This record gives sequence, C-alpha cells and structure tokens, in this order.
Amino acid sequence: MRPIYFLIGCFLLVVQQTSYADDGYRLWLKYDLIKDATKRDTYARSAQFIAVSGSGPVLKTAAEELQTGLQGLLGKTIPVITSAGTRTGGIVLTLTSSPRADGQSLNDEGYKISRTQNNITVASKSGAGTLYGVFALLRQLQTGQPLEGISITSSPKVRYRLLNHWDNTNGTIERGYAGGTLWKWYELPATVDPRYRDYARANASLGINGTVINNVNASARFLTAEYLEKVVALANVFRPYGIRLYLSVYFPAPKTIGGLKTADPLDPEVKKWWTDKVKEIYKVIPDFGGFLVKANSEGEPGPQDYGRTHADGANMLAEALAPYDGIVMWRAFVYKADPKADRFKAAYEEFTPLDGKFNKKVIIQVKNGPIDFQPREPFSPLFGNMPQTPLSMEFQITQEYLGFATHLVYEAPIFKECLESDTYVKGKGSTVAKVVDGSLHNYTLTAMAGVANTGSDRNWTGNPMAQANWYAFGRLAWDHTLSSETIANEWVAMTLTQEPKAVKTITDLLLKSREIYVNYNTPIGLSRPWTGAHFAPEPWQNKSPRPDWTAIYYHRADSVGLGFDRTASGSDALAQYRPEIRQQWNNPETCPLPYLLWFHHVPWTKKLATGRTLWDELCTHFYTGADSVGWMQQQWTQVKGTVDPGIFADVAGRLVTQQKEAIWWRDAWVLYLQQYAQQPIPAPFKKPDRTLDDVKKLVDIYQLR
Ligand code: GCU
Repeated sequence: MRPIYFLIGCFLLVVQQTSYADDGYRLWLKYDLIKDATKRDTYARSAQFIAVSGSGPVLKTAAEELQTGLQGLLGKTIPVITSAGTRTGGIVLTLTSSPRADGQSLNDEGYKISRTQNNITVASKSGAGTLYGVFALLRQLQTGQPLEGISITSSPKVRYRLLNHWDNTNGTIERGYAGGTLWKWYELPATVDPRYRDYARANASLGINGTVINNVNASARFLTAEYLEKVVALANVFRPYGIRLYLSVYFPAPKTIGGLKTADPLDPEVKKWWTDKVKEIYKVIPDFGGFLVKANSEGEPGPQDYGRTHADGANMLAEALAPYDGIVMWRAFVYKADPKADRFKAAYEEFTPLDGKFNKKVIIQVKNGPIDFQPREPFSPLFGNMPQTPLSMEFQITQEYLGFATHLVYEAPIFKECLESDTYVKGKGSTVAKVVDGSLHNYTLTAMAGVANTGSDRNWTGNPMAQANWYAFGRLAWDHTLSSETIANEWVAMTLTQEPKAVKTITDLLLKSREIYVNYNTPIGLSRPWTGAHFAPEPWQNKSPRPDWTAIYYHRADSVGLGFDRTASGSDALAQYRPEIRQQWNNPETCPLPYLLWFHHVPWTKKLATGRTLWDELCTHFYTGADSVGWMQQQWTQVKGTVDPGIFADVAGRLVTQQKEAIWWRDAWVLYLQQYAQQPIPAPFKKPDRTLDDVKKLVDIYQLR
C-alpha cells in the first residue's frame, strides 16, 4: 500500500472513532458493553442461552429484545433455543397460566423473575408481561445489580398506560418542542420508518401499552379510508411490542366526512355512522384501542351543541365500540367563557352530576390539576368525587408551561405530588393514586396518560434531560409507588453515566430542578395559564377574547395584595374538596405556602409563617430561584468527562439559556408586581438593572407571530 493511502486510512479510522458520539437516539436502551470484565463474566454465566417456551408475536419480541440487550452488554450473541431441557445457566422465557408471586397471582401483564433450577425464569401470563419482564431483567444488568438470588415480581397498577400525541396531519405538534411529528403521513403506508419500531421499543421498555397518535384537537381526516391505511401501518409496527393504537376523534366527523346533517349523538343516523366506522376500523386494526375525545372544550364541538350531555356523547361512542375490546377516553378538560365563573370549578361542576351515567366502556380522563398543567397545581377535585365513574390521570410530559425543551425540569416530583395527595374521600389515606389505580372505588377501567414530549429531533425530546420525563411517566404509570429518586437514578445510570459520583450529582440536580423552576416562575401558588406562546412572562397581559385567557384573571394583583380568593368569600372553589382539606387550605395561616395564592388574596404586608411579608417572600423565591440556575450550571460542570461530550455541551448550552430566562421571569414578575406592592426589593437582593418596559419589549420580540 502506498504510504499516502495508509495515512489517509489511519486518519479516517481516527475520525471515525473520535467522531462517534452518543446522539441520544438510543435513549435508556443503550446496551453499551459492560466495562468491568469480571462483572460481565458473572452475568454471562447466567445468560448462556435464551430458552423460549411458548409462542406468539410479543413473546418473540421479548426473546429478540433480550438477545439484543445481552449482545450489547456482554459483547456476545446468546443463542435463542426453544427449550432449556436439562441445560442450566440460561434465561427461560415462559408463558404460564398463573405465575404466582408471594401467594398472590400476578395480573395479565405482570411478570415474575426468579431463579429456578439454576436458570433465571421470566414468567408471565402474556407475551407482553414477558416482554416487560425482559426489560426489567435487562435493567438489572444496565444498572449493575446482582443476578444471584434474583426475585422480582411486578404487576402494573393501572391497566391502560398511554402516551397521548398532540400531533397534526401537517407534521406539527401542538405544544411539541422536539421537532415535528414522528409520523410521516405523506410517506405512509408504503414507507415505514424504522424509527416507529424504536419508538415502540422505548415505550414497551417502560410498560406503556397504548398510544393515541393524533392531537386531541382532532382532524376528522384520521377517520377517512385514506388515513386509516396509514394508521394501520403504524398499528402493525406497534403490535409486536404490546402497544395498542388509539385515535383522537373529531366529534362532528359524521358531518364533516360523513355527509350527515348533524352529529347529534342521539340521532340514529349518527349512531349508525359511528357503528359502521368502528367496524371499518376493527376490520383493519383488530386490536384497535379506542377513542380519545376532547368535546365542548376550548371551541371544540361536542354533544352540548345539540343540547346533549358529555355522557350522551361518550355513551354513543361506547355503544359503537360494544362488540370490540375498545374504550372511550372522554376528557374532562372543559371550561366556559363566563366572566363571572372560576375556571378552577368548571370540570367538577360539569362532570360530577353525571357520575354513574356513563357506559362501562367509558373512562373520564382528568388533568392532574383543575386548571392546566401549571408548574404547581393542587390536585383536581374531581379525583375522588366520581365514585361510580372510572377516572384516569392525564399528565403532561411535554413542557408547555415548564420552559419548553430549554429548561431542565424533572417532572417525576410533579406527578408524585399529585398522586400522593390525599383526597380524604374515604378517610385519611384516600390518595389520588388510589382513585386512579381503581382501588378506592373498585373501578373496572384504570388508566394513566402522558402528553408526549417526543418529536423528530434525533434525541427524541430536544433537551436530552427531558428523556427522563418520558421515562418517569412510563415508570410511574406502571408503578406509582416508585420514588422520584429511584427513577432518576435508573435513568441516569442507563442513559448518561455510571460513574457513582456523577450519578449522584445528576440525580440531585434532577430532583431539585422542579422546585427551582417554580421559584423563579410561579412561586407560592401563582399560576400562568394565560394565552400566548406559553413561554414568556406576561403578568401584565389583560386583553383576550375571554377573561380566563388573561394573566390578571389568575394573579389578581391590586394595591391590597395578590392571589385568587377561592374561599367562601371568593369563588368558593375550596368547597369542592373534603372538609379535612378545606379546613386546612381555607385559612391563610394553615394553607401550605406552595398553594397560598391559589386560594387566597393575600395582603402584600401580611407576615407569613416564614416570618417574611408576602412581598419579601415572593422576592426571596424569585431571586433564589433564578440564582439556583447558576447552581445547576455548577453541578453540571462537575460531571464533565463522565457523560458524552456532545450531550454535555448540549445541556450546558441549554442551562445558559435557562439562566438568562430565569432572570427574565424574575424581573418581569418583580417589576410588574412592584407597581402594586409599592415596596422596595428587600436586601440582600439587587433591584433588576432593567425596567418593566425593557422586559415587555423583550417579550414582544419573542411573541411576534
Ligand atoms: C392547553 C393547551 C392546548 C391544548 C389543551 C388541551 O390549553 O395549551 O394546546 O389543546 O390544553 O389539553 O386540550
């Protein structure tokens, strides 16, 4: 070989090796070779073969996934065989009619991993359960846990664990911050992007078993024969991963695409149209999951347009689904444009009178809080107050009010805070989690949905750290008793680094991130669901087609004080909670500080339990919150060298922006509120070095459309 070619060859090799970087695509399923050879050998001794007893497409996926994972982690191909026979030292995947765990039988999707006759057995009643067991076993290896004496039994606590995609036919995603939609409508069904399978794998690894692929502000187009063909192609990819496909439906579809004169749910022709449509869907997607419906909400049409109720609308769809194993998820996110009403109360007022009136195939999907995915909200008072109607949880994974994909906010603490809230409806310990998992009211249907934060960005979620939120949602949908810390630890170790100090630093950073965000964004119970991009601070915003789309509606700042009076002297929204809660939250002295301004109009000079006045307390939160982003940056700097350089730089860059924007939020709020509070910025904090007008100009630049 001529020396010049040799040199070029060497150069290319070096470039190839050094330019390899973790682009985040593999999420928490990286399966890099376990570096510690002793550990690797120990694992390998327990994984000499994979024996699959049973058949079925999902079980086959389980074997393939196990083989793929072990190939990466152990650096060798583990053979898949049909029966272990007398062989030992392998992993047996088995379908059994009733694997038992500690005297209790597992539910259909549960799994049991145990050591039997010198093999590791992953047993379940279903292929899906085995697949979940396989991912759980791989997680043990990914996080360096021992396999000797392994004994894990787990069943999902809710039956339907779904992502909700707010994706549109034109490729955009409502409130999506990680690129465009994953679904390539113009290419489907002929071209099936391999990414669909990777999406399914990631979800299955968490136990997610359903996905609603289109926006709740739905297009009727999804129900046309042309689109159904495309939808079928996706369902076919998801099926071997145990994931069922669902569609959001546009309630007046019988009119818009069916040519009928009405979409009245009690009209026989309308009923027939839906019955036929459902039949058409099941013909091509036999395991179709059902419908998600946003009706009579934010301008979306619905049964009330015909003088009918939510129950009439939902039941009509449920009847169309009657011959099949599909359900209706009817959303409770409703509020009317009534200038005198408190939006907080709307869902409870509209839905509780309908308790017990829904078909048994209907589940009411309720957002965690009464308003709209705020950085902190009290739990929705609907939870616990519809004992005869299954209620499911809707969390938002995408960061609509949490700084989009720029700000680092780990959401597990938000989800946990709601799930662990006590409704007291059946005495102490009646948590929201017990409502949602059905144990409180014996619901037959149980579900948890997360509004997805995925998109076409190579790393799926824009901010690499936001992968942790997808991960956390999935893990909690499976088991809401897991702690935020356990979940963070797992995710960090599988995704970013296994260096113990770095795992600790990043976990700590994740765990503190939400409170830091709340501090500079909406402390002490402020909220900001006003209209606009949902990105920039605009506490001054006072014009909108409806009052509850202005900022002043929510914070109610005036010369006396700040906050929304929801006690009996105000909107009395507190009456929607049980007396145990009401008594505590009704009194500003005993209302927890994080919820104070949700329920009280508090004078600026009022001394709070912290010993500071409201104004000083607010400033303390805004300033320490914004300063803490500096702390986040320092923490992140410490993990340099232990995480992939590309990911390190990406997150470091986003933290710089986050700091700038945290100061921006702080300045906007304090300068705006100061006009009413008429107080100086308390020491040791420095007064902002810009004026309110400066901040408004900045916001205008961002809000220009
Ligand atoms: C919020 C969000 C909308 C979304 C709506 C919903 O209002 O800003 O984009 O459509 O919630 O959940 O239906």
